[in-house]
Amino acid sequence: MALKAQVERLRVRFKQRVSWLLKRRLKDMCDYDAEFGQYISLLQLKEKLPPIPPKELQIRVAGAYYPEFFKHGRDMFYDIENILKKQGLSAFNFDHILDFGCGCGRFLIPLSYLMPPGKLSGTDIDEQAIQWLQENYRCFHNLNVNGFAPPTKYADGTFDFVYSISIFTHLPEEMQHAWLKELARIIRPGGYGVFTVHGENCFHHLVRKTDRNELLEKGFFYDKGRGTDGLPEFYQTAFHTEEYIQREWTRYFEVVAIHAKGVGNHQDAVLVRNRVS
Ligand SMILES: C[S@@+](CC[C@H](N)C(=O)[O-])C[C@H]1O[C@@H](n2cnc3c(N)ncnc32)[C@H](O)[C@@H]1O
Repeated sequence: MALKAQVERLRVRFKQRVSWLLKRRLKDMCDYDAEFGQYISLLQLKEKLPPIPPKELQIRVAGAYYPEFFKHGRDMFYDIENILKKQGLSAFNFDHILDFGCGCGRFLIPLSYLMPPGKLSGTDIDEQAIQWLQENYRCFHNLNVNGFAPPTKYADGTFDFVYSISIFTHLPEEMQHAWLKELARIIRPGGYGVFTVHGENCFHHLVRKTDRNELLEKGFFYDKGRGTDGLPEFYQTAFHTEEYIQREWTRYFEVVAIHAKGVGNHQDAVLVRNRVS
């Protein structure tokens, strides 16, 4: 879309969102408008606005099209950073980072402003999302489409750190085991991962008592619902108990910590460390 049309679209949306402010606090609104105009004029001098992913790709990963898409990515990245900090670690100190299940870049795009994007790679099964990122953000180390099942294209021990937000929340059990094994292969010995799951905070989503009982007995439940437009049929909703993670995930990694509601104050975050030998 031409720059002029993009600017116009942004201006209209901006004005709609602050119309209530206009009515109540006219002076603030004028300042806001001035600030907006200044940003736009600087971006016009650079002759480009940062590209934003198409609406349908955003909905595919976030379930909605809304202004805070990138802010949420950034905030959830800082949730991950806080989890690492509790162990004396920081994502900023890792040189090779993978976003496993990166979608259209809700995390990668804001992260590219926070650290050198050449440290960052992303992979996803969603060809459209990866293609869009490849065409619009050439700054990343690499962006790949992976198959539904492992392996990925990465060599053993490629990454210091892999994060995966809202992926293990959707896969059937056998696929989860296969991917945990693959992630343990591509994270270097002693490297780390943060992977999110639907923990206790989300169990109330299971309305049938029989489903909840199965989850509590087995520690894992894969709930087949309507799926997600644009994603394969296996992409459903999975739930994990902490006990299951401690029992099953330790086959592949040391489980360093499980943070209830650790990411986005919603999903549990599992911090894992790859064994050294
Ligand atoms: C809820 S979205 C989250 C995307 C991104 N992590 C975010 O938070 O914006 C789940 C993503 O997992 C991807 N996905 C599902 N199965 C996958 C697999 N086996 N390997 C890689 N990505 C997968 C989907 O294509 C989708 O982009």
